[in-house]
Amino acid sequence: MRTILVLNGPNLGRLGSREPDVYGAANLEDLRAYLVAEAPDDVTIDLRQTDDEAELMHWLHGAADSKTPVILNPAAFTHYSYALRDAATQVTKGGTPLIEVHISNPHARESFRHNSVISEIATGVIAGFGFDSYRLALDYLVRLQ
Ligand code: DQA
Repeated sequence: MRTILVLNGPNLGRLGSREPDVYGAANLEDLRAYLVAEAPDDVTIDLRQTDDEAELMHWLHGAADSKTPVILNPAAFTHYSYALRDAATQVTKGGTPLIEVHISNPHARESFRHNSVISEIATGVIAGFGFDSYRLALDYLVRLQ
């Protein structure tokens, strides 16, 4: 079995009730079910969410050490967390892919969302396709392995 980590940052546990006009009506369990259904049988989807920056960093440290590919929605940390960037850098510089994803298209929103401190060190970035941003990242990682 191969594992793909799907890590979600702050407020994404509120999907379903949070700004449905922006993020849709589906929740994180719907996302998990969607990705599990889309993943090949030999791929385990390990989907997690936290509002805690340190916890997210520790998950990235684990991914760097175990060389587990990551799909990361850093949520608002995207725009300012150098600590998260440094943790994510350990994943990609160690040769493990990390795809930054966003449900919405941050570039079509408020100007503070236009900058990502993560994108420069991510393997790639997919944004604006709703839950399909994650699915497209999954497709890439599955083909890669
Ligand atoms: C988000 C976009 C971020 O700007 C925002 O802070 C989020 C979600 C997205 O998935 O569209 O929490 O990462």
